[in-house]
Amino acid sequence: MKGNGASAGWVLVTGASAGIGRELAAAFAARAHDLILTARNEEALAALARDLVARHAVKAKTMPADLSLPGAAEAMAEALAEAGVAIEILVNNAGVTFEGDFARISLADHLRLSQVNIVALTSLSRLLLPPMIARGHGRILNVASIAGFMPVPRLAAYAASKAYVLSLTEGLSEELRGTGVTATALCPGLTDTAMVRSSELGKPIPATMIKSPKEVAEAGCAACLAGETVCVPGLANLAITTGAPLLPRSVVRAIGGAMTGGGWDWIASALRAGGFSRDRSAR
Ligand SMILES: NC(=O)c1ccc[n+]([C@@H]2O[C@H](COP(=O)([O-])OP(=O)(O)OC[C@H]3O[C@@H](n4cnc5c(N)ncnc54)[C@H](OP(=O)(O)O)[C@@H]3O)[C@@H](O)[C@H]2O)c1
Repeated sequence: MKGNGASAGWVLVTGASAGIGRELAAAFAARAHDLILTARNEEALAALARDLVARHAVKAKTMPADLSLPGAAEAMAEALAEAGVAIEILVNNAGVTFEGDFARISLADHLRLSQVNIVALTSLSRLLLPPMIARGHGRILNVASIAGFMPVPRLAAYAASKAYVLSLTEGLSEELRGTGVTATALCPGLTDTAMVRSSELGKPIPATMIKSPKEVAEAGCAACLAGETVCVPGLANLAITTGAPLLPRSVVRAIGGAMTGGGWDWIASALRAGGFSRDRSAR
């Protein structure tokens, strides 16, 4: 931690131009970390960098990149190495979602989602982790979702990508025991960002269950610095993620379908179709 003007180390935040990523950058800056901010929107990154430098007297550099392009993560790691920047904390926050029936979403969008949510996150983790292990300290904070705990109809590929992020992070966290490096999966529920505001699917959810990006980022930043493996902000979200593995898979699927536009009739029709009794053994 910074006490006398010393930096607490460089943090690379992907998806820093908006939403949870912007608040994560602010949370780390408030704890004296210097920042590398990346996303596509150069103007938003530059404005955030100016603001964080002014408010927290940290260094902040921008590195615009489109993580949906193959090779973007490799180019970023090379640029960091050339600049002599050692990343102490990697925050893989950038994420996209395409909602609707899987067969109606274009293949190009499915591939874009896989590239941003899975490939770029995996690549940056693989490229930046070995130097952390060699130094004996470092942190990875991967932004998953409560959707990573359950299949979600009409967000099927998104939820599957977040299940990957959650599983990868938990596996990594065990591998890293004793190295001084930790991996944390931040699993927000619905959060008030552009991702949710532009979505039809969260509309049946009561507003009281929607958290602010600042609350989510503060919880994620604290969990990351404490070296916790899984962070689910909010009691209702914690209840969902704790309860989901205890329920039959068919019920979990039906609840996901109800929340993403099917309404409660979706659950009734799933139960009528006999999915519950058929799948009880597949918990
Ligand atoms: N909001 C929620 O309810 C919620 C819930 C659970 C998990 N999450 C997860 O939280 C993370 C942040 O989401 P958010 O809600 O803050 O969404 P958001 O406001 O839409 O922000 C998404 C961020 O990702 C960046 N991004 C998107 N496509 C990119 C690309 N091709 N290359 C580089 N950067 C890209 C965006 O920047 P540019 O557009 O400037 O590139 C932006 O900074 C995501 O991983 C999301 O899945 C969100």
